[in-house]
Amino acid sequence: MQVFVFKTKEEAAKAAVSVFAAELMKKPNAIFGLATGSSPIPLYHEMIKLNKEGAMDFSKCRSWNLDEYVGLQPDHVCSYRRFMNEELFDHVNIDKANTHVPSGIAADMEKEAADYDAAIAEAGGIDVQLLGIGRNGHIGFNEPDDHFTYETHVITLTDSTIDANTRFFNNRDEVPRHAISMGVGNIMKAKTVVLVANGEDKAQAIYDTVKGDITPNVPASILRCHPNCLIFVDEAAASKL
Ligand code: GLP
Repeated sequence: MQVFVFKTKEEAAKAAVSVFAAELMKKPNAIFGLATGSSPIPLYHEMIKLNKEGAMDFSKCRSWNLDEYVGLQPDHVCSYRRFMNEELFDHVNIDKANTHVPSGIAADMEKEAADYDAAIAEAGGIDVQLLGIGRNGHIGFNEPDDHFTYETHVITLTDSTIDANTRFFNNRDEVPRHAISMGVGNIMKAKTVVLVANGEDKAQAIYDTVKGDITPNVPASILRCHPNCLIFVDEAAASKL
């Protein structure tokens, strides 16, 4: 695991995006694992800019997103499918048919999860996986637990995550209580992992990830076992290191 600290989240995003840009130059049909939340937004801005400048060509790129809320239609204002369309896919030359977000409204969620994993494996696996991190150390929607879950699965969100994500909804009651998320196994199988975090409220999670015990209680801590995990943070998120 390598940690890179920058003055601002914009500088961190510029550095992080170069990993994705380099991968696309090397492998035009690269598979990106993508993430939602506020942390990846500066990075998506950089991707859009590089695409417009001709330095990132997404025409053959394929993507699989980490997670989705259970019960939200894809066009719901808070769905992660809509987030990805609005923050990235609508602004670059990616073919939407090549973009994948797990369905939160499948009739059989277990089948949806198994099919999602099978599709990633069939495509050849993720080349570069982008991650944010929750205040409690969650990655995707892998919440603190007494064990790691490896495959895509349905999760009950913790109060901490519901509280943190209420800002995107009209009120706390509207936040779905369940989500479907890649497991830590999917994430660990990616050839490269890029985690971005900014702000003081991520400082403890970053400290626990980088310096604490490797434990399912801090899901991101398993990234210390990954052979190529790069962490890009601003000074506030690095303040406890
Ligand atoms: C959600 C997402 C995570 C994300 C986290 C932090 O729970 N499922 O993938 O990392 O929020 O979001 P933010 O970057 O907005 O703090």
